[in-house]
Amino acid sequence: MKVEILRFDDFGRGICYVNDKVTFVPFSMPGDVLEIEITKGKKNYNEGKIVKIIKPSKNRVVPSCPYFGVCGGCAYQMLQYDDSILEKQNNVINYFKKNGLLIKPNIIKNDIPYNYRNKITLKIVNKKIGYFKSSSHDIVEINKCLLAENKINEVIKLMPSLNIVNGEVIIRCNYKDEVLIIINTNDKIDISKIKDIKDLKGIILNNKTIYGDNYFIEEVNDIKYNVAYDAFFQVNRLVCGKMFKIAQNFVNVDDIVLDLYSGVGTLGLSAATKARKVVGVEINKNAVDNANLNAKLNNLTNAKFIYSDAGSIKNLELNFNKLIVDPPRAGLSKDTINFIKERLPEEIMYISCDYHTQVRDLKLLDDYEIIDSYVCDLFSYTYHAESIVSLKLKSVR
Ligand SMILES: C[S@@+](CC[C@H](N)C(=O)[O-])C[C@H]1O[C@@H](n2cnc3c(N)ncnc32)[C@H](O)[C@@H]1O
Repeated sequence: MKVEILRFDDFGRGICYVNDKVTFVPFSMPGDVLEIEITKGKKNYNEGKIVKIIKPSKNRVVPSCPYFGVCGGCAYQMLQYDDSILEKQNNVINYFKKNGLLIKPNIIKNDIPYNYRNKITLKIVNKKIGYFKSSSHDIVEINKCLLAENKINEVIKLMPSLNIVNGEVIIRCNYKDEVLIIINTNDKIDISKIKDIKDLKGIILNNKTIYGDNYFIEEVNDIKYNVAYDAFFQVNRLVCGKMFKIAQNFVNVDDIVLDLYSGVGTLGLSAATKARKVVGVEINKNAVDNANLNAKLNNLTNAKFIYSDAGSIKNLELNFNKLIVDPPRAGLSKDTINFIKERLPEEIMYISCDYHTQVRDLKLLDDYEIIDSYVCDLFSYTYHAESIVSLKLKSVR
């Protein structure tokens, strides 16, 4: 059937109406006139797929990636880069507004929007190696990813030599192009070819180090970070550097800062270059050990990191006036919200990779008002947006 796409949803899908029912069409954009096929008909909505582009939107560009339209990774490659970040900014503004929160976020652009990812996860099913297709667990076989750093693309080509039938391979690389390969599989593997990769730092099989080391060193804004193979690190080194500066600017010399969900200490240590004292809380033991080592490595002796669930620190003996939170997509737990409402720090910086859960949490943190916000393009050409919001306790203004 013939449709015209009217706008995007929050997940980068074009929206049109079929017999008055909202219909989501991946890889389409406003202004496209399309022939589509309905792939899923639900009570309140349909999902469709493009059969033919009858008349492309005047803003449509030719996607650079040969897998675009099949692979589930990118949503916006048919947009100019600047249009894609405007779209993300509007998505965030509109979602906040729908929930009664008004923001005018600054955009933090990605100056190099391709070849930025320092980590990818390849799925392997029946010897097919690649990413999941859009809305499915079928594999689209790839031998390069335009979002990944060049070094990772060199490594992807060698993956078939591992002889994995079913499993997953995570490839990470650091600022010096050193590589960690993390393999999860029950199959018998052959590492003879990948051992020859230049600057291979380590191979980890089912959480055991079978070659080299199980960590490498990252560097952002002149701070060095030990990063264990299973510790979180922002996937976009260039843009996260801008984000860490925002965390640094959030604090002053007399501040005592609590950094919840602190990972290997990136935001906390950036803050510790200025603040009086920083305490971080993180649930991954390796990341906590990294963070404490990183404090020493960078002579930031005013920072320490604690191994704990952020939701279990109600007895924490720290009189902090500033709080940084950077939770995973699920957002803050009820216990963490209660902890914040109990302690009421003067200011909070809430960094989130899912603005939907962030908004849910902000509505609960009603003792605070929003004083600043950013949309940070850490995940260019995907629909994901990093949303940063600074909050001030209403009564101290
Ligand atoms: C989005 S990452 C942020 C890490 C760090 N702030 C950074 O920018 O590198 C979220 C971190 O929260 C940690 N985490 C997840 N659930 C947690 C919990 N319940 N309590 C404490 N940390 C948790 C993860 O291990 C991860 O390191």
